[in-house]
Amino acid sequence: MTMALGVVAALAVLGGCGGSSGGSPPAQNGSGSGSGSGSGGQNATPRGTPTVFNWNYPAYTAPDAWVWNLPPHMPPPRVPADNPMNEAKVALGRYLFYDKRMSGDGTLSCGGCHEQARAFADGKDRPTGITGQKHPRNAMGLGNVAYHATQTWANPSLLTLERQIPNPVFGTEPVEMGVNDGNVDQVMKRLAGAKDVDYATRFAQAFPDAQGDPITWEHALKAISAFERTFITADSRYDRYLQGRDTLSAQELHGKQVFEQAQCSACHAAPNFDDQFMSAQTTSLVVRYHNIGLYNLEGRGAYPKDNSGAEEITGNPADMGAFRVPSLRNVAVTGPYMHDGSVATLEEAVRIMAGGGRNVESGRNKGDGRANPFKDPLVQDRGLSDQDVADLLAFLHTLTDERFLKDPAFSDPFATQKQ
Ligand code: HEC
Ligand code: HEC
Repeated sequence: MTMALGVVAALAVLGGCGGSSGGSPPAQNGSGSGSGSGSGGQNATPRGTPTVFNWNYPAYTAPDAWVWNLPPHMPPPRVPADNPMNEAKVALGRYLFYDKRMSGDGTLSCGGCHEQARAFADGKDRPTGITGQKHPRNAMGLGNVAYHATQTWANPSLLTLERQIPNPVFGTEPVEMGVNDGNVDQVMKRLAGAKDVDYATRFAQAFPDAQGDPITWEHALKAISAFERTFITADSRYDRYLQGRDTLSAQELHGKQVFEQAQCSACHAAPNFDDQFMSAQTTSLVVRYHNIGLYNLEGRGAYPKDNSGAEEITGNPADMGAFRVPSLRNVAVTGPYMHDGSVATLEEAVRIMAGGGRNVESGRNKGDGRANPFKDPLVQDRGLSDQDVADLLAFLHTLTDERFLKDPAFSDPFATQKQ
């Protein structure tokens, strides 16, 4: 991940270079190992040990009186002290999330790769940025994104939404929205000059304490983050079942049982069906990345070059192919699947996970991932019958939250000019 220099300077205020309360890493527990040094070191076993981050969080007091409207099984998320929620900010963030003027050439918004009807994934294996460059990774859904201890598929240093946004906006490897030193000021001027949205008033209302011109990058990124924090998905049939407001069929209930017995829930744990759930109540969390045996190039356990996972950031060879556990909420609509979108259907994804990995039989990425030496031992052939797989799929479909996919509060305010 690389950015132009002037842009990085403009972002220092957001903690982009490490510093503000929005982005400083939590304290590490003594026994945990930080980035770069696998716990036990690389010599403990021939292959080393994957990096484990053992994080403590300070006690939390919400910086605002925002009402989250959550069911009892979902605690509220954490909000950074320097970016409290308010209605005007969330409303501004909604415009900016869908505004193509936010990209270097005015052609692509966040919404261009994150569509509400797909739980904010995009239906493509890998998206294309404004210069035509393909992203190495699949665009992830953004449901319950406020609860992720780290953002993106494999970056343990992106701790907040405020810190994540500069990637798509200013990133040069790959280029997504293509804002750079040459057009960084122009983008804010474009917003100030917009005829269809009164951004001057909206920014001023969202940031009432701001000195000077409120239309700044810092405020824009904070407003988008506040909007994303409202992407709560907790009203699926599964959630309603937990609250006694709906029932699950015998097949769905058996699927839930298979999901638990096959140890899927060891990594895809409730309430968010992932293993990096951080809420207002979280005080410590073990953050892990996992190799699930999708590839095994030349029998060395390697993954394709542009997508080696957490290893890219930690430098620990044992983190080869290690990715964050994706949330399975709304998973029926977020395909294609896996970090590189290389799995087309949900059934195929389930069969890979329940079969102990994937054997790529031919082509450039040939190799039996099931025998990947870095694979997490929890990913095994579970010997499921076709009926078990069908039931498991039926259960996963109960995680679709129709209200979230259609809620007008998350929709595109420029709806007529389709993104
Ligand atoms: C060109 C397509 C594209 C655009 C435009 C784009 N994204 Fe993304 N987004 C992605 C991809 C691909 C990933 C996964 C990145 C990775 O893992 O390295 C991602 C990941 C994310 C994540 C991490 C989610 C998680 O669960 O960790 C967030 C948050 C996000 N994007 C928000 C945004 C916002 C806000 C914007 C607009 C400022 C935006 N994206 C624009 C493609 C895009
Ligand atoms: C060791 C932890 C672990 C276990 C156990 C596990 N998963 Fe996963 N799962 C992951 C990770 C990590 C990924 C993403 C891997 C990647 O993209 O390289 C994933 C991806 C998936 C996906 C694709 C989701 C998406 O949005 O791309 C599905 C579906 C899934 N798992 C279902 C299951 C099922 C069903 C089981 C039980 C049979 C299971 N998983 C067991 C860690 C695990």
